[in-house]
Amino acid sequence: MSTKEYILALDQGTTSSRAIIFSKSGKIEAIAQKEFKQIYPKSGWVEHDPKEIWSSQLSVFTEVMAKMKITPKHIKAIGITNQRETTIIWDRKTGEPIYNAIVWQDRRTADYCKQIENQGHGNTIQKKTGLRIDAYFSASKINWILDHVKGARERANVGELAFGTIDSWIIWNLTDGAVHVTDVSNASRTMLYNIQTLTWDKELLTIFNVPESILPKVASSSEVYGHTSGQILSSSVPIAGIAGDQQAALFGQMCTQKGMAKNTYGTGCFLLMNIGSKPIFSNNNLVTTIAWRIGGKVTYALEGSVFIGGAVVQWLRDELGIIKTSAEIEKLAESVPDSDGVYMVPAFSGLGAPHWNPYARGTILGLSRGSNVAHIARAALEGIAFQITDILTAMQSDSNIEIKELRVDGGASANNFLMQTQANFLNTITIRPEVTETTALGAAYLAGLAVGFWSSVEEIAKQWQINRTFTPTPDPSIEQSLREWKRAVETTKFWANY
Ligand code: G3P
Repeated sequence: MSTKEYILALDQGTTSSRAIIFSKSGKIEAIAQKEFKQIYPKSGWVEHDPKEIWSSQLSVFTEVMAKMKITPKHIKAIGITNQRETTIIWDRKTGEPIYNAIVWQDRRTADYCKQIENQGHGNTIQKKTGLRIDAYFSASKINWILDHVKGARERANVGELAFGTIDSWIIWNLTDGAVHVTDVSNASRTMLYNIQTLTWDKELLTIFNVPESILPKVASSSEVYGHTSGQILSSSVPIAGIAGDQQAALFGQMCTQKGMAKNTYGTGCFLLMNIGSKPIFSNNNLVTTIAWRIGGKVTYALEGSVFIGGAVVQWLRDELGIIKTSAEIEKLAESVPDSDGVYMVPAFSGLGAPHWNPYARGTILGLSRGSNVAHIARAALEGIAFQITDILTAMQSDSNIEIKELRVDGGASANNFLMQTQANFLNTITIRPEVTETTALGAAYLAGLAVGFWSSVEEIAKQWQINRTFTPTPDPSIEQSLREWKRAVETTKFWANY
């Protein structure tokens, strides 16, 4: 039996719940992961069963401790990180959810959001929350549940119900209903939280018709919020870190200085840039968000999300069958010197930042009689890198900061061809760290800092190590490729809007 101490991160993602144990040196000691059901009741609707989220999270918690042959006594603190915006409302007395979790991807409130926009609230909402009005964020989802579950609004008004993003739900359950809390990074994704005054905003609560009584307390991202209940674990462990998954990844990548940026290449891609202690409001359709608060110090970020990133590789594998495994795409793309004028805009579920066109559909342009699967594979990977280039260009223009390097993580960051292409398109160094589980690592760091497991951000910054650096290769044809990519995107939008 180990006598060592560890930090445990619970990473509750969109498709799976994970538990990861980190040692003092920031190394991964063990991982357990469990997928759970995706529920699609109607076209455009996406739900999760909150009870399955909780049971899968608890089961990986137990499993990872068993793998390491440790007990809760060996865990110095728990850090929570989570899929953001996803909305749950439950009964405060029984802990029973009154409806399934409405997932961030769910579009059921798109028309309602249009109405809010048509009422002219766009500017106020951007100034207060940093966000653009969209069904992506929690506010309209809360409103929907209160309007559509029988008796919900009346019960909410008399304080019987609680709302939470996934972090709140997990902590409520870990503490057996004793703690109802969220952190600033998650609160900033609800569209009800004023990121300048750092309070739930009364005007926004009125616009979205949400009673204040259902909201959690908003805390910093690194402090002891409560302890696990004796009903859940054999000994009580402090819960000491919370951050939305993309913000946690920014922290895990140690992008702690203004101007540092990371991109996560997952199913989609999330690019965040640390913009320091004051919010910058985008003129280029990016969102402003709170990255974290440590002690009294708030750090803000600009964010751009791409809906289809690594998912395009899965599409080539599962729908077109031109590769058998995702890893095969790298060799196939490299088997041709260039894409020979083929461009793929992977707008399978519309275009995210900076275009925000929900009606766009994927396109492949520039095919010739000689185009083959290798050209398409190459165009697909380049399509991911072009999208990130568009976002970073917008970010640099919004912030007036030219980034020195892009730190990368997520599944597709293992693809060396993609990372080199990214460096070339950005004309910026791309760096892959040793630990690419940066989301969980960020949550672990936030928790460990709160309980003194690590003494300072400076101490943990020393643990961040480079796995590989991709230096841009000069290529005079890139300018033209970037111009042609822009035309491909415009053509895609034209097709959608025709
Ligand atoms: O905003 C949504 C994002 O937090 C989802 O992340 O990694 O669960 O797909 P992920």
